[in-house]
Amino acid sequence: MIGRLNHVAIAVPDLQAASATYRDGLGATVSRPQALPEHGVTVVFVELQNTKVELLEPLGEESPIAKFLESNVSGGMHHICYEVDDLVAARDLLMKQGARVLGGGEPKIGAHGKPVLFLHPKDFNGTLVELEQV
Ligand code: CO
Repeated sequence: MIGRLNHVAIAVPDLQAASATYRDGLGATVSRPQALPEHGVTVVFVELQNTKVELLEPLGEESPIAKFLESNVSGGMHHICYEVDDLVAARDLLMKQGARVLGGGEPKIGAHGKPVLFLHPKDFNGTLVELEQV
């Protein structure tokens, strides 16, 4: 069902500092910040040859990563995103297997303008999994 690794997302307390770490320290190409109020984050993309890293900073009071950063104060790996061809078919199959889909199970438009869903970390070895339809 899953295809390529689309991105790994890292929650960071300071997006500007994290961008500088990747751009200046690691020599990577880093995009401009993009605010995603619907997801409660501001994001930059680190473009790698084979995949991307997303750096996420909390946006707004209800940000889903604010609590994560309370227990991971210097930041930490937040989720991993796999590509699927058909998001609704993947969701239905996973739910039939008992997997929990976050946010009521309805796809949202993600940071790349494509539909995404998140799967409960307890069902996937402690890792928050994002599925993106490509
Ligand atoms: Co993501």
